[in-house]
Amino acid sequence: MTPYDDLPYVSRPFRQTHPDRLASMGLLLGMTPADPRTAHVLDVGCGSALNLIAMAATLPDARFFGFDLAQTAVEQARSCIARLGLQNIRVEHMDLLEFPGDAGEFDYIIAHGFYSWVPEEVREALLALVNRHASPHAICYLSFNARPGSTLRLAWREAAAYHAHGIIDPVERAQASVRMLELMAETSAARPGAWRDIVTEMVDAVHAKGIRWVGHDDFGPVFEPFHFHEVAEAAARHGMQYLSDACHFDSQPYELGDPAREILQDLEQRDLLLREQYFDFLELRPFRQILLCRSGVALRRPIDTAGLRQMSFSSAADETGAAADGQIVVSNPLTGSRSEVGELSRAILRQLRAAWPCSMPFAQVLPAQADRDEIALRVERLWACALIEAHAVAQRCGRGTEERPVVWHLARLEAADGTTVTTRIHSQCIVDDVTRDLLRLLDGSRSRSELIARFPDLQRRLDWLARMGLLEPADESTPA
Ligand SMILES: C[S@@+](CC[C@H](N)C(=O)[O-])C[C@H]1O[C@@H](n2cnc3c(N)ncnc32)[C@H](O)[C@@H]1O
Repeated sequence: MTPYDDLPYVSRPFRQTHPDRLASMGLLLGMTPADPRTAHVLDVGCGSALNLIAMAATLPDARFFGFDLAQTAVEQARSCIARLGLQNIRVEHMDLLEFPGDAGEFDYIIAHGFYSWVPEEVREALLALVNRHASPHAICYLSFNARPGSTLRLAWREAAAYHAHGIIDPVERAQASVRMLELMAETSAARPGAWRDIVTEMVDAVHAKGIRWVGHDDFGPVFEPFHFHEVAEAAARHGMQYLSDACHFDSQPYELGDPAREILQDLEQRDLLLREQYFDFLELRPFRQILLCRSGVALRRPIDTAGLRQMSFSSAADETGAAADGQIVVSNPLTGSRSEVGELSRAILRQLRAAWPCSMPFAQVLPAQADRDEIALRVERLWACALIEAHAVAQRCGRGTEERPVVWHLARLEAADGTTVTTRIHSQCIVDDVTRDLLRLLDGSRSRSELIARFPDLQRRLDWLARMGLLEPADESTPA
């Protein structure tokens, strides 16, 4: 039994690990990554594998392999795969230390929530596995707790370990640890200053996260934060180089002041790895999600707008206010980013918003505009501040106008069990009981008129399901 059998971890889809996202970063930096639609994808320590299952369900011609040390998580994954009838995914109960040498090559390798939470021997074995099994243009996603920001969580972890000493039950242990943090927050409330702000932020994050995650992410047996340079050097020893941040936006100094920006700009021209390390120092960064590729792969920096023209784009961003000098404030609920934009960017965003959640090829973004270079520049800036997303594979969903609307099969299955459902665009949303009923009925066997009899506000509900990315595109809707 592992700690993850005692206290099962709740699996989630992570957009930033999706092969589409990884491929688009590779394309923008001059790589020729594998087409995600036919790629071979590996998820290391996949837990109950919802991340991988949601990918497999939208990319039927790609192949997925996940493995995990926790038997209960693997059983849960297999049961979900069987219920969905997926043929392109396999999940095994396996220790990374015993990963078979003949498992073949993978185009995308994901290790989310793994590196900082396993002993050194397993970390090293992970990087060796990546080196052994990455295809020549593979992209590997790796997340870890970063120094210096994570050392603040270490202060809590140490106090909580003392406080929870002697408690065996993992849930009670995690609860006691959270109580310790709440105590630290309550007592610091009367003392204005940085520590009070930090502890308050940690309490909010922990409450939002839930006890199951806290029990592992913060109080599992291993919690090892690293400097960025340590991980980059370890990867280099195993033949891999830093490609980029998985969320380009997270590595942009938008929220740092001018002096920090100048330092980072200067470093970027001299040595990107130094720039990344100093970024973490200056931002007090607590968590890193990086992409790696083989050391021999030639990369083009900065971002290659020729790569951008091969892709399609989507945006959930809304106009949320007016700014000075005629600019408009735009916010993207999906990424949490907010920015001020001018007329041309506004026109691009409006067009993408109208198509949301479907993506639009670059060539169709404002086709009436003659100056494609100017549009490419704006698209790149909007992408860099996370107002739009780039896709190597077109993002396609139903629009809510179909005669027999179909909710995609994973969400229908989840709605039978609970209120959290996964979308086709690799995110999650919470649904109320009436929407759950509707989700379960939208299997393509019912016409609009049959549905309206039961749901008089059907179109409003369908519009919402469409915006969330829960509907199958018309040509993929197969009655179940
Ligand atoms: C923090 S969880 C992350 C799960 C999943 N990747 C996610 O992000 O939702 C870490 C996972 O790694 C698995 N794990 C730890 N050591 C392992 C090993 N040596 N081999 C395979 N899996 C391992 C655990 O069982 C657990 O499911």
